[in-house]
Amino acid sequence: MSVRFLHDRGVIARYREFLPVTDATPVISLNEGSTPLIHSPRLSEIVGRGCKVFVKYEGLNPTGSFKDRGMTMAISKAIEDGAKAVICASTGNTSAAAAAYAARAGVECIVLLPAGKIAMGKLVQAFIYGAKVVAIEGNFDDALRLVRELGATGRVAIVNSINPHRIEGQKTASFEIIEELGDAPDVHILPVGNAGNISAYWKGYREFRDLNRSTKQPRMIGFQASGAAPIFHNRIVENPETLASAIRIGNPASWQFATAALRESGGSIHIVTDEEILEAQRWLASKEGIFVEPASAASIAGLFKCAAQIAAESTVVCTVTGHGLKDPDIAREQCGGVIPAKAEMGAILKLLGWE
Ligand code: F0G
Repeated sequence: MSVRFLHDRGVIARYREFLPVTDATPVISLNEGSTPLIHSPRLSEIVGRGCKVFVKYEGLNPTGSFKDRGMTMAISKAIEDGAKAVICASTGNTSAAAAAYAARAGVECIVLLPAGKIAMGKLVQAFIYGAKVVAIEGNFDDALRLVRELGATGRVAIVNSINPHRIEGQKTASFEIIEELGDAPDVHILPVGNAGNISAYWKGYREFRDLNRSTKQPRMIGFQASGAAPIFHNRIVENPETLASAIRIGNPASWQFATAALRESGGSIHIVTDEEILEAQRWLASKEGIFVEPASAASIAGLFKCAAQIAAESTVVCTVTGHGLKDPDIAREQCGGVIPAKAEMGAILKLLGWE
């Protein structure tokens, strides 16, 4: 019996020629990428004037967020370089991805998390994939500072997005969008936390433009949570606060890259409140059937906010970065409970009002 391994499915296999890999690079992959780009008729209607809106649903990656794209690269390169252990600071998704890809590679994974601030689904992922999970009394920015110091000892490879291989992997999302639309979109909207992803998308768009695989580049429009908006306010936020725990970051590592992406693309950065984020999360789930975590819904809240400024006939892509099941508690708090009933037809007909 012949067995066909589907190694052609991950982002390194798909975009090898655009990534810093060689035949000596072991490919540590979970078949990440190739996520759906979903046309949204309702969002298109809200923006109006002939605009078409698509949602890039990154929650359908193997660990449920876009981080898998960068992590396949970071872990593959770490293994190529002989690393026996990897480390990251995280608001939850990076640690889930790092833990999974480290497990796949057979190396140790250490994660530093802000205590009490990680959504349940993400924490459980780090545990089950076998990472050593350290909860620090501090926020993400403190955790990343410590990780930089631990990395400097040379005993462990850092797989946060300060590792340029992460950005390389994440840029493949732009390639997929260009291939699927046949060109780059006019506007790209995404949430911004540590600012690696907006930098990665912009790098991807620029590279495909330079290779004439697209005819244009989108305006990059970023959204931060109003309580954690250092780039918007142009100053470090010492105590960032938002229900969207994934983007609860006060001093983004890729700040300069993000600023360059905004400037070069003619884009801009804005804020959305926690209320707007939660409303957008509910809207996207209940109107389009797409369940995303709160940070991801910042894209949609952002689209609602800037819809009137988008030029007529534009193609717009909103990246939704993580799956809704990552953070069941926040979703649960917003929803009505179950309707209790006896296991009797009469009782059910009555409560449905079908009598
Ligand atoms: N959306 C989600 C679901 C995230 O997990 C993150 C970042 C972002 C958006 C923002 O992306 O940092 O590249 O600007 N999460 C990191 C983590 C910080 O540790 O999982 P960014």
